Amino acid sequence: MTASPSCPIATQAAPVTLVVFGATGDLAMRKIYPALASLCQNGLLSHDTRILAVGRKDLTAEQYATLLGEKLATSIPASCMADLAPRVRYLRLDPDDLDSGYTLSLAMDELDREAPKNRLFYLAVPPGAYIPLATMLGEAGLGREDDGTSVRIVVEKPFGRDLPTARELDEVLHRYFRERQIFRIDHYMAKETVQNVLLLRFANALFEPVWNRRFIDHIRITAAEDLGIGHRAGFYDQAGVLRDMFQNHMMMLLSLCAMEPPSMFEAELVRDERSKVFRALRPLDLERLDEQLILGQYGPGMSDGQAVPGYLQEPGVPADSTTPTFAWLKVYLDNWRWQGVPFHLCSGKRLEAKHTEITVQFKNVPVSMFRRTQGEIIPPNRLVIGIHPHEVVRLEVQTKGQGSTLCLQGQSMEFSYGTGGGGGRLDDYAKVLLDCITGDQTLFWRQDAVELCWGFLTPILERCDCPDNKLPLHTYASGGPGPRVAQRSGA
Ligand code: BG6
Repeated sequence: MTASPSCPIATQAAPVTLVVFGATGDLAMRKIYPALASLCQNGLLSHDTRILAVGRKDLTAEQYATLLGEKLATSIPASCMADLAPRVRYLRLDPDDLDSGYTLSLAMDELDREAPKNRLFYLAVPPGAYIPLATMLGEAGLGREDDGTSVRIVVEKPFGRDLPTARELDEVLHRYFRERQIFRIDHYMAKETVQNVLLLRFANALFEPVWNRRFIDHIRITAAEDLGIGHRAGFYDQAGVLRDMFQNHMMMLLSLCAMEPPSMFEAELVRDERSKVFRALRPLDLERLDEQLILGQYGPGMSDGQAVPGYLQEPGVPADSTTPTFAWLKVYLDNWRWQGVPFHLCSGKRLEAKHTEITVQFKNVPVSMFRRTQGEIIPPNRLVIGIHPHEVVRLEVQTKGQGSTLCLQGQSMEFSYGTGGGGGRLDDYAKVLLDCITGDQTLFWRQDAVELCWGFLTPILERCDCPDNKLPLHTYASGGPGPRVAQRSGA
């Protein structure tokens, strides 16, 4: 096989003034600054790009610089920090102040003094602050693109906590920004192996002819985590696994596995196809929900050789919380390609190991010609797309075991993605941040898709949230395989 040329590195993006709200927070420190550093290192961030770090804390420029130095010492190489730090300004802002929009405008004008730049507002704040901040920006006229430069706004999932609140957020965003200015981040879409699903499917003639109900028995999408909720009780107890993982990452993976090929790899065409998948979701049958949904909550157990508390003992979690930390959901798509094919979506915290994977299981051979010696059942082919920790594409096939008698032996044809070359690999957040700067929306959620997914999940979320109508919640031991009942269902 001829080696492919390694991927060309993206070209440097135009200069931008990046305004990071929540600049002292976890997301900024853990993801955004390291992503910026990675763009710097790869020569993708223009020298004229400036960062306006906005926070509520009363810090001087020096204090913020010291904070950055401390928080980023282990995640950003010193040489990179030396490049990044001089571009950062800190602005203390209380969005509740009536003149906060004006103050922000002045600070931005100051940064833009030499030449107007594109503007990118990144709301790295708790979701409750999205509406006030978007309103502040809009009312200050900062959403307008009127001098030939672009203005974009970035929001992180969760986009609302149900359909009405997602619509409310969208209504405010659209009051001041157009859809092409709004970037709704799902960091799963930035994973190389996740993007690879589309290339695997649509850049090879091999898979598409069998990628349908005639040949595929079921598809399983797993995102298991070994960690618990850490210090995120405040957020997590309100969200639970369905809002935290299903409404976004799991649905996104589902859409990539199930979508039709767009006529061209262009943002709107790809997003159209993803939305069509969500439109085909068969509504859950609330009378027979136990056949399609299993919810669990982790109890105490062992993780990585250490005793760990159960969810209810985590700091900040109410002792009677019924928030699920595990869910298995079987969904069907009502369309010609997928009629009758179950998609098993499964995600949970405090399971055995961190493990993210898509498994496409093909149907059994119609009849076994080896049945006299090997029995009727031949293990079916499986295509495994490993996302974490093993970035692999693995096709499991049956072969002849070596020897004088006839025996079948399962073998894997495996390609390890991480070793497949491509020097310009960016980490998840660097890739999405670069796309926000360049204005490529392919990897981002569009509002119609957000609403379709909320619409699908809302009936079960309402049941979960309603104190009188609880769905069964199965406790599972931390560090184990998850609720027993889920294993029985093949989850
Ligand atoms: C986040 C969720 O969106 O994704 C977290 O809020 C979860 O709860 C995380 O742990 C998982 O992401 P990854 O990339 O580590 O699989």
